[in-house]
Amino acid sequence: MTKIISKAGSYNQKVVKCFKNPKNYGQIKNPDGVGEVGNPVCGDVMKLYIKVAKNKKGEEIVKDIKFETFGCVAAIATSSILTQIAKGKTLKEALKIDNKKIIKSLGGLPPIKVHCSVLAANALKKAIGDYYSRNDSKKNE
Ligand code: FES
Repeated sequence: MTKIISKAGSYNQKVVKCFKNPKNYGQIKNPDGVGEVGNPVCGDVMKLYIKVAKNKKGEEIVKDIKFETFGCVAAIATSSILTQIAKGKTLKEALKIDNKKIIKSLGGLPPIKVHCSVLAANALKKAIGDYYSRNDSKKNE
């Protein structure tokens, strides 16, 4: 497999695989929540779309999730793995996904790329927050 070496150091094979063949890339039509985050220093932007449904227990779950990321190798790899971790989880479980979990699932990231994983975790929190605020405003209509 191709080894990608950046100024930040080398990426492991799992990161390269997620970057080259990202899962859940794209948009969701009529999403239930959207989270957009950016890092002004590197200029990378992530947009996450979620569709929410209820499981048999009546808990809200991430039924579908997609991302659009304009950024570095790590930004795309962390977005991809995040969608794979979050899909099917309850919203409460999904809110607990932090950047440490993302990094662990990727088998590590160069230290200078840790902020990319923080961006991904924040995008999910923002999308779920957007879902909750849309629902709150529906209740108040
Ligand atoms: S370099 Fe900023 S998100 Fe990757």
